[in-house]
Amino acid sequence: PVSLGAFAQRKSWTDSEFNAALKNAYEKYKDYKEGANANYIPELDKVDPELFGLAIVTVDGKIFSAGDLNTEVSIQSISKVFTMARVVEDSGALEVLEKVGVDATGMVFNSIIAIEMNKGKEINPLVNPGAIATTSLVKGNTYDEKWNMIKSTYDDFAGRKLGIDQPVYESEAATNQRNQAIAMLLNAYGRMYFDPIETTDIYTKQCAVAVNAKDLAIMAATLANGGTNPVTKKKVVSYQTVAHVIPVMATAGLYDDSGQWIYNVGLPGKSGVGGGIIAFYPGQFGIAVISPRLDAAGNSVRAQESIKHIVAELGSNPF
Ligand code: DON
Repeated sequence: PVSLGAFAQRKSWTDSEFNAALKNAYEKYKDYKEGANANYIPELDKVDPELFGLAIVTVDGKIFSAGDLNTEVSIQSISKVFTMARVVEDSGALEVLEKVGVDATGMVFNSIIAIEMNKGKEINPLVNPGAIATTSLVKGNTYDEKWNMIKSTYDDFAGRKLGIDQPVYESEAATNQRNQAIAMLLNAYGRMYFDPIETTDIYTKQCAVAVNAKDLAIMAATLANGGTNPVTKKKVVSYQTVAHVIPVMATAGLYDDSGQWIYNVGLPGKSGVGGGIIAFYPGQFGIAVISPRLDAAGNSVRAQESIKHIVAELGSNPF
């Protein structure tokens, strides 16, 4: 069902409405088995496919949840949002626009053709090529300086010190020749801004940061709250930075299915092959669902269905 959204001018929800929407989605989809774990990163194929966690965090720091709130998965591509935010915050919106590009490629997330067609221009910070280029733009002169910047940014968004899923990191580092090739190709086009192989490794590590549904919902709520973590109250990035991240999430957050996502849900979102999806309503709340089985585009099937259901029930599609 499509809700009235902005036309209903509905902009606040009670605690029991949030709880009911999460519980109803959990009940409706708890036995849902469409899709399959990612297996191109061998370790991801070992994650429990039944894992199902849902959380909403409001801009005043209230936390609502259903299902598994504790089990962690690797953040994967959802990390791209927060690295982009770091670079926009530190170097300005023009840096990403001019050195990476923000147009959606419309292609699969690790497309090499997308690079070739544009000679390395317009590669988008939320798919692999542009994300690797964006990681290369993070401030710092060394691997460690850049990595510490990225990790502390994620920790501030989540409001706690996050861990690394070491087996996932090692598994991907041993099999990420395609991402290394992407980084080398960008380097050949003059569109990498740090050593391509070291950058790919930093990027691989950022993708292995371990999060649960509550962490992801707090990270999403920090975006919804204009860059200030609503639980810790720490200002992580400015609202101007978030305003530049939102349109890229809205147009490229779910890869080549981004059009279908925004058509159905109306909220900027971002998926990862670990099974997580975040979305948020600016000024209202962040939402996250983790469920590892993916569709062909690499997006969690059950997380998409659940968020669609919750947004319809809350009438929170702003369009
Ligand atoms: O680079 C990769 O392929 C993974 N570390 C991340 C890809 C990803 O999450 C795409 N997601 N849907």
